[in-house]
Amino acid sequence: MSRKNILNLRYPIVGLSPMDGVTDSAYRYITKKHGNPDVIFTEFTNVMGMSQAGQHVIKDFHYDKTQKPIVAQIYGKEPEYFYHVAKIACELDFDAVDINMGCPAKNVASSGSGAALIRTPNLAREIIVATKQGVVDWANDGKLTGLPEKTLAAVVDLKKELNAQYSTRKVLPVSVKTRIGYSEPVTEWWIKELEKENPAWISLHGRTLKQMYTGSADWDEIKKAVKTTEIPILANGDIKDYSDIKKVLDLTGAQGVLIGRASFGNPWIFKGKKFEDISLEERVKVMIEHTKKFVELNPDPKAFVQMRKHFGWYIKGFENASAIRVKLMQTNSVTDVEQVIQEAGIPLSF
Ligand SMILES: Cc1cc2nc3c(=O)[nH]c(=O)nc-3n(C[C@H](O)[C@H](O)[C@H](O)COP(=O)(O)O)c2cc1C
Repeated sequence: MSRKNILNLRYPIVGLSPMDGVTDSAYRYITKKHGNPDVIFTEFTNVMGMSQAGQHVIKDFHYDKTQKPIVAQIYGKEPEYFYHVAKIACELDFDAVDINMGCPAKNVASSGSGAALIRTPNLAREIIVATKQGVVDWANDGKLTGLPEKTLAAVVDLKKELNAQYSTRKVLPVSVKTRIGYSEPVTEWWIKELEKENPAWISLHGRTLKQMYTGSADWDEIKKAVKTTEIPILANGDIKDYSDIKKVLDLTGAQGVLIGRASFGNPWIFKGKKFEDISLEERVKVMIEHTKKFVELNPDPKAFVQMRKHFGWYIKGFENASAIRVKLMQTNSVTDVEQVIQEAGIPLSF
C-alpha cells in the first residue's frame, strides 16, 4: 500500500509548525514570502471559544491567500465543538483541519485537551470522528448549524474579508499533530490508536508531554512511527538548520518535516540559507516589513507589545546587537523601530 498524498504536495514536505503567540497571520505572511514553506498552520485555536464566541476568537482564523496551502489548527476536548469548528474552517476555505493532541501547557493539558488526549484514546478518536463528520457534512450541504448568532455573524464578516471562495465544496483532510507519549514514549501504540480513524497525516513531535520542551526530540521514536503505519508522517522537533532536514528524513523515512523555533526571525531557513549568511540589512528590511504587516493587521496600539519578541530574534549575532535589542524592546510603532535602526547606523535598504 502506498502512502496517501498530503494536499497534493510533493514529498518531502517542509512546513512551518504551528506556534501559539508566534505564527500569527503577519508571521505566516512573512515566512511564506521569504521562505516559502510547503505548508503552514495557524496557531491553535480553542474549539469551544471559537464556536461560542464572536469576532475576537474568529480573528485567529485570519489569513491571506499568499499563505496557502494553510491548515487550521484547533484544540479542545468536546467532540461537538470540533464538529462545528471544522465546518467554520471549511467555510473560510482552509486547506485542511489539524487537531492538536500535542500541547503540554498546563492550562491546556490539565483540562484534558492537547497532549493529555494521549491518555484518553477513545476521546481522541471521537474527536477525529466528529471533525471528519464536520468536513463531510459541510461538503454535502455547505451549512453552518447550531452556532450562536454572534459566531455566525463573525464568520460571515471574516469570510468577506478573506474573500473566501471555492469552485467546488470539497471534503477537507483532517490531520493530527501529537507527541510520542504522555510520560513515557508509547509511539507505536499511540500511532495505531490514531490510525483507527485514518487521519490524513500525522505530525509527530519527538517528545513526551512530560518532557515539555526539555531534553532532545527523539527522532528514533519518529522512525518507529513511520514503520508502524502507512499514514504519512511529518517529523518534528529540534530541526535547527536546513542540514537537519535531510538528517531527520534519512533517519526516520518520514514524508516531511515541520520546523518551529528555528524559524524565529529566520524565514530563510526554508530556502536552505543560513541565518549567518543573511546580511544585517536584509534582516532589518524584513523585520520592518514584518512590523508593518503586524500593525496593518493589529492596529490597536496595545497589541504592539506582541511584536517586540520578534525584534530579538532578527537582531542577533553581531557586536552591538544586544544594545539595539534593548532599544527595540521599548518601541511602540513602526516609526520608533525605524528610528532605532537609523540611530544604530544600519542602512535601511528600501
Ligand atoms: C511558543 C510555542 C508555541 C507553540 N504553539 C503550538 C501550537 O499552537 N500548536 C502546536 O501544535 N504546537 C505548538 N508548539 C509546538 C511546535 O509546533 C513544535 O511542535 C515544537 O516547538 C517542536 O518543534 P521545533 O523544535 O522545530 O520548535 C509551540 C511551540 C512553541 C515554542
